[in-house]
Amino acid sequence: MTTPPPLLEINGLRTWFPVRRGIISRTVGQVKAVDDVSLCVAEGETLGLVGESGCGKTTLGRTIVGLEQPRAGRILFQGRNLGRMSRRDRKAVSLHLQFIFQDPYASLNPRMTILDILTEGLGEHRLLRKAREEEAVRLLAEVGLPSDALYRYPFEFSGGQRQRISLARALSLRPSLVICDEPVSSLDVSVQAQVINLLMELREKHGLAYLFISHDLSVVRHLSDRIAVMYLGRIVEEGGAEAIMENPLHPYTQALLAAVLVPGRPRGQKLVLPGEPPSPLNPPPGCPFHTRCPKVMEICRKEYPAARTAEERRVNCHLHPADE
Ligand SMILES: Nc1ncnc2c1ncn2[C@@H]1O[C@H](COP(=O)(O)OP(=O)(O)O)[C@@H](O)[C@H]1O
Ligand SMILES: [Mg+2]
Repeated sequence: MTTPPPLLEINGLRTWFPVRRGIISRTVGQVKAVDDVSLCVAEGETLGLVGESGCGKTTLGRTIVGLEQPRAGRILFQGRNLGRMSRRDRKAVSLHLQFIFQDPYASLNPRMTILDILTEGLGEHRLLRKAREEEAVRLLAEVGLPSDALYRYPFEFSGGQRQRISLARALSLRPSLVICDEPVSSLDVSVQAQVINLLMELREKHGLAYLFISHDLSVVRHLSDRIAVMYLGRIVEEGGAEAIMENPLHPYTQALLAAVLVPGRPRGQKLVLPGEPPSPLNPPPGCPFHTRCPKVMEICRKEYPAARTAEERRVNCHLHPADE
């Protein structure tokens, strides 16, 4: 028997944004938002993607769903190369691949009723079998909202409720993978827990896989099977959530974890690292983290560390040299 391919497999993905100057718009540099990223998500699995703001998480998510064009690398979904598909195939596949945005205020069309929002995708994909209302009521119930929401507009709902509506919209297409980009970051802490619980419930019920993106490790750790840590466009450590939380090997992961564990400090506070991440326009040579790393060595300034696979994870750090 052959093992099934992972649901999502990303290899060597690069998404760069050209920086243009002057009247002829000459390209003067590239923002390397996503730089040589390889990741997998298995059926029904939750991969948490964590890293400071600006490290490329959103760009990675947007590239996977086709909102940004990669300049290199490939994305396989259910074993099929998304980059090589016809428009029609891509549309069919996109049913199974949904994206939930960070800002539930901006992502719901203010002029549409909840009914229209929830059934828009169904109409587009000609999947509408039952009466629209019936289907929309069912979706509302899935996310814990009453049926009288149907003919109301997004502005009548709170942030948490809107995020539930976004989730219901994503579910309407019966996806197998949902990319959640900071789905609770704009919500009050009390509401965050409710939305996270709902995400976990729905995962159980529908066997969903998530790529769960957050800058906050304390959110990611609760619901991830595996965790990938991103810094300046690259994955620096990736592996089993438990292994990484109990024994982070990369100094950057250690710093993220220390920020979460400091008692008496509000969650999501700034890191205990010197300085800000460098610009992805001019990433430092060698290991991109060396300018802030408390354990920097001479070699870190010169050479990019090759990956080492050990202790249930993959880590790119000169402290943990790659096996020969
Ligand atoms: N459309 C764009 N054009 C140019 N630069 C961009 C664009 N989108 C994102 N960036 C840059 O790419 C980097 C990564 O951004 P982003 O993916 O939003 O990070 P994160 O989601 O981790 O905060 C940042 O330096 C950001 O300024
Ligand atoms: Mg983002």
